[in-house]
Amino acid sequence: MANTANAELPKLDYPYDGLEPYISKEIMTLHHTKHHQTYVNALNAAEQAYAKASTPKERIALQAALKFNGGGHINHSLFWKNLTPQKNGGGKLSDGPLKKAIEETFGSFDAFKKDFNTTTAGIQGSGWGWLGVSPKTGRLEIVTTANQDPLLTHTPVIGVDIWEHAFYLQYKNVKADYLNAIWNVINFDEAERRFKEATSGSKL
Ligand SMILES: [Fe+2]
Repeated sequence: MANTANAELPKLDYPYDGLEPYISKEIMTLHHTKHHQTYVNALNAAEQAYAKASTPKERIALQAALKFNGGGHINHSLFWKNLTPQKNGGGKLSDGPLKKAIEETFGSFDAFKKDFNTTTAGIQGSGWGWLGVSPKTGRLEIVTTANQDPLLTHTPVIGVDIWEHAFYLQYKNVKADYLNAIWNVINFDEAERRFKEATSGSKL
């Protein structure tokens, strides 16, 4: 457990207003400095309590907090890397292995985004939408997780936060508008890096 103690809020690679107009500065500021920071603080508190726990019962009692806040930290750390300003290439899927795999799996880039948005819009309550690589088949699949559960069944390539705190201030209850907008600031270079890592050799 020691290596996961003292989790820290990662710095963003772009300014808080860098994803405008698709994700507002206000959302990004609160999401990073308040929401993510809270997961980090609570994860560290749970890790410290776990380290001090002397009975199985005490350790079991901390499992939910570790999963929720640890998942929140993992997911948000991945999410920030997932995004990049449009002027830095956000939303642009260049020719390469990821584009090829997306077109083979979903028919086209647009069909993939439509499938992803339809599946993800169906999440009841809070959760995450993912494009992941199945370790069994090596193929791309769209999957969802509830709450702050991290993606464990697949290697994540793209993760999208579907909690209301990710969009409500700008998009109110219209989740579909948020889902359409976010593709303009997805960092496909980062997605391709993860895809290559997931499909290279030994893991499959
Ligand atoms: Fe979030």
